[in-house]
Amino acid sequence: MALALIDITPDNLDRAVALPPAPGERSTVAPVVYSLAEAYVTPTAWPRLIVDGDQVVGFVMANWDPDNEYEAFRAGIWRLNVADEARGRGVGRFAVEQVVDEARRRGVGRITVLWEPGDDGPEEFYLKCGFVRTGEELFGEVVGVREV
Ligand SMILES: CC(C)(COP(=O)(O)OP(=O)(O)OC[C@H]1O[C@@H](n2cnc3c(N)ncnc32)[C@H](O)[C@@H]1OP(=O)(O)O)[C@@H](O)C(=O)NCCC(=O)NCCS
Repeated sequence: MALALIDITPDNLDRAVALPPAPGERSTVAPVVYSLAEAYVTPTAWPRLIVDGDQVVGFVMANWDPDNEYEAFRAGIWRLNVADEARGRGVGRFAVEQVVDEARRRGVGRITVLWEPGDDGPEEFYLKCGFVRTGEELFGEVVGVREV
């Protein structure tokens, strides 16, 4: 695999918004088109496409907002979507490590992520990627933190 994070540009936008879930589909994560709309109105958002060579395999969006009133939203992963056919081969873990690297570059010491509780959610994935539960819940979601 030749995984990399790249900027979203007019050339790859169509492939970015084609990632699952489709708008209207039931899912634990928002459609990429919605995340990109949020990024448009949130200057601290950091959206990136995950590619494997010339294949688009996922989307990750971090947020770097040290002044946010919620500690859990100051630095960390906001969205992560891996293409169905690319799951289970390290793409999600790669994206997490890229966000960790970016946090270190910014001098940030810990990152957070929120996930929906339940067996069909991504909890096990985030625990395997080094996050621990803080014990806090925010807007009905579990808060996880990882020291970087
Ligand atoms: C959750 C998600 C991001 C995982 O991405 P992925 O590329 O399949 O994960 P990886 O292959 O990098 O897996 C890393 C580890 O987590 C484990 N893992 C991944 N998904 C898991 C799941 N649903 N349940 C249990 N373990 C899981 C893998 O087995 C692997 O473990 P290992 O290190 O022991 O081999 C992906 O399934 C996804 O996009 N899901 C839908 C959207 C979503 O829930 N996003 C997160 C919202 S905050």
